[in-house]
Amino acid sequence: MALFRIVYVSEATGSVGSGLMPLIDIIGVSEQNNRRDHLTGVLMRHDGRFFQVLEGARPDLNRVMARVSNDRRHDNLRTLSDQPISERLFPAWAMARLEATPEVEAFLATDMTQADVPAEVDRLVAGLVQTTADAV
Ligand SMILES: Cc1cc2nc3c(=O)[nH]c(=O)nc-3n(C[C@H](O)[C@H](O)[C@H](O)COP(=O)(O)O)c2cc1C
Repeated sequence: MALFRIVYVSEATGSVGSGLMPLIDIIGVSEQNNRRDHLTGVLMRHDGRFFQVLEGARPDLNRVMARVSNDRRHDNLRTLSDQPISERLFPAWAMARLEATPEVEAFLATDMTQADVPAEVDRLVAGLVQTTADAV
């Protein structure tokens, strides 16, 4: 089954942007569902924004993205990258929660409209592999 990777950013609404509990709720449900659906990836929150990477088969990705994009805990969801991949970057993570790296923080602080966003996103996501490896 062909694999794809989606990277998106969104803006947290209300208290979801800061408290720890709302984030733990999201991660708990995500881990459970993603394990069931063979989805893997990473979720970061920084300064009221989410940055999420999701990897898996197309039907599973379409289903999770349909749920996630209807979730009122965030809005202004923008898909930055959606492409076929030859292998997963985060095979061990149904949903890793990471502190935003300085590189991701700097990226989120930009307006993300420059022409080379997909290439920049690829670079950022590749840089997270070591961070998840360190977290094991
Ligand atoms: C920023 C953000 C990221 C999310 N990521 C996932 C995810 O990776 N997988 C998932 O199943 N749900 C995720 N959710 C939650 C979904 O929007 C939805 O609430 C959930 O999938 C419903 O699951 P349930 O039908 O099992 O209750 C996310 C929500 C937010 C706000």
